[in-house]
Amino acid sequence: MIEIQELTFKYSGAKKNALENITLTVEKGDFVGIIGESGAGKTTFCSCINGLIPHHYKGDFYGSVKIAGNDTFDVNPGKLALTVGSVFQDVESHLVSFFVEDEILFGLENFGVPKDQIESRITEALQALEIEELRHR
Ligand SMILES: Nc1ncnc2c1ncn2[C@@H]1O[C@H](COP(=O)(O)OP(=O)(O)OP(=O)(O)O)[C@@H](O)[C@H]1O
Ligand SMILES: [Mg+2]
Repeated sequence: MIEIQELTFKYSGAKKNALENITLTVEKGDFVGIIGESGAGKTTFCSCINGLIPHHYKGDFYGSVKIAGNDTFDVNPGKLALTVGSVFQDVESHLVSFFVEDEILFGLENFGVPKDQIESRITEALQALEIEELRHR
């Protein structure tokens, strides 16, 4: 599912590598935690998986990152987001709507989900998280 081969990344202008020679495979169903001190490269590592590196943050990139068989160089972050979900450090900056229902709708609309599927997708998401009672909060 996630295949990382000899990944090294240095931000433009930085003196040293933020990530160095990382090789890792994450299989379907694996639950992985990445730990390390501040500045160790956790966020950088995640940015290599969701495609913000190399598409948004520039620098020297060596090695390869493949998500479900696709090289992150070949797929833009918007497309990758269909497979890779990201929650940033400042969780509150994700909220864009006043109501839970609209918040879920935001993602579906951005992905261009057809209108006739939206209602059932919202219901599914609420059920999956067991938060149906929060729909109109
Ligand atoms: N946009 C950037 N431009 C240049 N250097 C950066 C940038 N973002 C991070 N770095 C540098 O890359 C290294 C790894 O930083 P990163 O933010 O990935 O660490 P982290 O493990 O997520 O830290 P924290 O626990 O504080 O969130 C650090 O040396 C940091 O200064
Ligand atoms: Mg971080």
